[in-house]
Amino acid sequence: MAIRLIVQDPDPVLRERAAVVTKFNSNLHKLLNDMAETMYDAEGVGLAAPQVGISKRVIVVDVGDDHGLIEMVNPEIVERSGEQLGPEGCLSIANLNGEVRRAQHIKLKGFDRNGAPIELEASDFLARAFQHEVDHLNGVLFTDIAETVYDVSKRPRPDGE
Ligand code: NI
Repeated sequence: MAIRLIVQDPDPVLRERAAVVTKFNSNLHKLLNDMAETMYDAEGVGLAAPQVGISKRVIVVDVGDDHGLIEMVNPEIVERSGEQLGPEGCLSIANLNGEVRRAQHIKLKGFDRNGAPIELEASDFLARAFQHEVDHLNGVLFTDIAETVYDVSKRPRPDGE
């Protein structure tokens, strides 16, 4: 495993629509391993492959709950319900947080690292993290949709995604 460099806004790779993964091979496994290590090293709760410069539909999330590390390839949010407004940050956007309106509850479909289908439901902060990471795969950053954005450079940033 290796820690990869996290690209920073305004790197254009963050604005691409990431490609669907078709090969569930050792390159994908190495990418997923590295993404998890990179996320933990940066003390984030989620990371999308474009954030390490790879424009593919791959995310990792770990919000520190009982789910632990969740890897998802070609994730798709198939249901959304309810609403939550709360703070977000991003490992690709230094020093900014924002208040972002998200669905409170989602149903997500995708694939694990071996190509087996996964379906899961998420609420609260976990649902927020997934919505943030799936946005990355579509070239959307939280600052695009935040209701307010604020500078947190003078205090710790608890919600880095
Ligand atoms: Ni992010």
